[in-house]
Amino acid sequence: MKTAFITGITGQDGAYLAKFLLEKGYAVHGGVRRTASMNRGRLAELGIENEIQYHDFDLLELSNIVSVIDEIKPDEIYNLAAQSFVAASFRQPLLTSELDALGVLRILEALRMTGSQARFYQASTSEMFGKIQDQIQSEMTPLYPRSPYGVAKLFAHWITVNYREAHNIFAASGILFNHESPLRGQEFVTRKITLTLAKIKHRNANILELGNLNAARDWGFAGDFVQGMWKMLQHKVADTYVLATGRTNSVRDFVTHAADALGFRLAWEGDGVNETARDRSTNRIVVRVNPAFFRASEVDTLIGCPAKAERDLDWKPKATFEELVEGMASADNDRVSRGCVLF
Ligand code: NAP
Ligand code: GDD
Repeated sequence: MKTAFITGITGQDGAYLAKFLLEKGYAVHGGVRRTASMNRGRLAELGIENEIQYHDFDLLELSNIVSVIDEIKPDEIYNLAAQSFVAASFRQPLLTSELDALGVLRILEALRMTGSQARFYQASTSEMFGKIQDQIQSEMTPLYPRSPYGVAKLFAHWITVNYREAHNIFAASGILFNHESPLRGQEFVTRKITLTLAKIKHRNANILELGNLNAARDWGFAGDFVQGMWKMLQHKVADTYVLATGRTNSVRDFVTHAADALGFRLAWEGDGVNETARDRSTNRIVVRVNPAFFRASEVDTLIGCPAKAERDLDWKPKATFEELVEGMASADNDRVSRGCVLF
């Protein structure tokens, strides 16, 4: 039986990865930071909350990772923990850098100092492409981050590559494009859209306020992407891989599909900060722009080329954009109608 340690196990990807590894027969250990209230709703929703062995873990604390390595001698470490919300990184740039940049170096240093042979996965991000330098982004595209989060993740990516090359640590970096699911955090745009529209439908909210409707993302399903993480650690050599769907859609497209799935029929009107969407059946405005949600510097559009992962890892995303949106809308519709939105 292999042993895996997942940091960020309480987050979206941590929950899906834990489920996937348990199904593969792994002993799954998870790092959780101390908080005043338990935060295991995603693991509970997947029915695996009690199948995981939990350890104190904070990205700020070097001793945590050293103890875990000593105690459980993991075969694989997946570093998914992060301050992962781009908008928050503009307000908390120092904290974001401590966690998302230096936090990764702490884990790599622990691996080097202990001589652990664990294979290491770093959760890198398409946010590093930022102001895109190629129309379609691949492992060869120059990086140009546009947020403190993107800059911190860029450090983490390169320090992972450096420890691979300098210290012969099996350290893989997955440059993952946006991936979503019904377990997505509520502040990210996709989940904000499906949850708020479901609330409007059930008369628990009046309006959905969004920032940049023209931003476009390559959105995939998180359940598909965690399989790619695992495949990177099973490959014969550690490397860097892009995981993406190769399709891009705007925030406006996402709203339109989610609204369709929830029974609205939207008519878009106006432009810029005056753009709105009206529900044709009630004639009410249900979506409007609020500049408070604009970013200080934006990543306008992302679209990834996953050809290397397909070739070397035999990885391909399965869920389509339409299936993703419909699945999220349906899950939030159920939760709101049951009055049970836990995360
Ligand atoms: P998420 O849902 O925000 O989960 C983040 C996890 O990190 C949570 O478990 C959180 O714990 C934990 N965490 C935060 N601060 C921590 C700290 N100081 N010490 C220890 N743990 C801490 O993120 P996700 O969407 O699953 O993403 C997983 C990883 O992939 C992140 O590194 C993210 O930056 C990266 N990524 C995500 C995407 C995407 O589209 N989802 C794309 C590319 C890369 P709490 O539950 O206690 O908050
Ligand atoms: N969150 C949010 N809220 N975003 C909005 C809103 C809004 O009200 N309105 C428009 N947007 C736009 C943002 O400006 C951005 O261009 C896009 O929607 C996506 O925003 P998020 O869903 O917050 O995701 P992200 O692309 O910034 O970051 C996510 O993907 C990265 C990979 O590219 C996160 O998961 C990161 O952790 C991840 O690395």
